[in-house]
Amino acid sequence: MSAKLIMNEVSRTFHDGDSELTVLNKLSLKVDEGELVAVMGPSGSGKSTFLSIAGALLSPTAGEVIIDGVPLFGMSELELAELRLSKIGFIFQSANLIPYLKVKEQLQLVAKLGHRSPAASSKRSLELLDRMGLRHRLSYYPDKLSGGEKQRVAIARAWMNKPALLFADEPTASLDASRGQDVVKMIADEVKAEGRAAVMVTHDERVLHLCDRVLYLRDGALKETQE
Ligand SMILES: Nc1ncnc2c1ncn2[C@@H]1O[C@H](COP(=O)(O)OP(=O)(O)OP(=O)(O)O)[C@@H](O)[C@H]1O
Ligand SMILES: [Mg+2]
Repeated sequence: MSAKLIMNEVSRTFHDGDSELTVLNKLSLKVDEGELVAVMGPSGSGKSTFLSIAGALLSPTAGEVIIDGVPLFGMSELELAELRLSKIGFIFQSANLIPYLKVKEQLQLVAKLGHRSPAASSKRSLELLDRMGLRHRLSYYPDKLSGGEKQRVAIARAWMNKPALLFADEPTASLDASRGQDVVKMIADEVKAEGRAAVMVTHDERVLHLCDRVLYLRDGALKETQE
């Protein structure tokens, strides 16, 4: 079983004038192939900071991050951008679709940025949209989609380049209970079927049973219990 994400004693401090805020303090985490891990914690505990560092969007003040066997330390901005395109998918609280692209084009743009061939990307986008139950929405613009449909397009887009790792920041926040379950189930299914891994920040107790592990961010590190 190979580890898709390793974080070793990762710390992150923010400076604001004279004051210093330590948000992450020697946080360690290992996520294996096939695992969906949920992370919970109160507002301001550092969940988004943690996800940004794990997803190579923000660098740690100290500690080590290894994504799918690749250590991030010392990589240039360009190398990090390439790594994000090839190995990482992101889903945010709001779907962040591009307003002037149709559903199928949202997925094909990501493939193009990742240097995939147009024929292969067309095939994969259809497969994914089919799996997400969106076959009948291929030529819709985002403003004609429901909240749940938008979030499913965002999931399909995040899986487009076959990333080793998926990060989701409160993906069910704008959805009702049953849509929320569907969305997380789709993340879990893809993780299991394709041997990927995912980390999801959530406040939603109703989706935790679909996750393999639940961790709590407290005092700058991940703990196995809430208190
Ligand atoms: N770029 C930054 N500069 C200074 N402080 C920051 C920066 N980013 C985050 N912080 C601070 O770090 C702390 C953690 O923020 P973060 O966004 O990670 O929390 P969160 O757990 O995601 O909260 P929420 O549940 O509200 O989304 C907060 O006190 C925030 O103000
Ligand atoms: Mg946050």
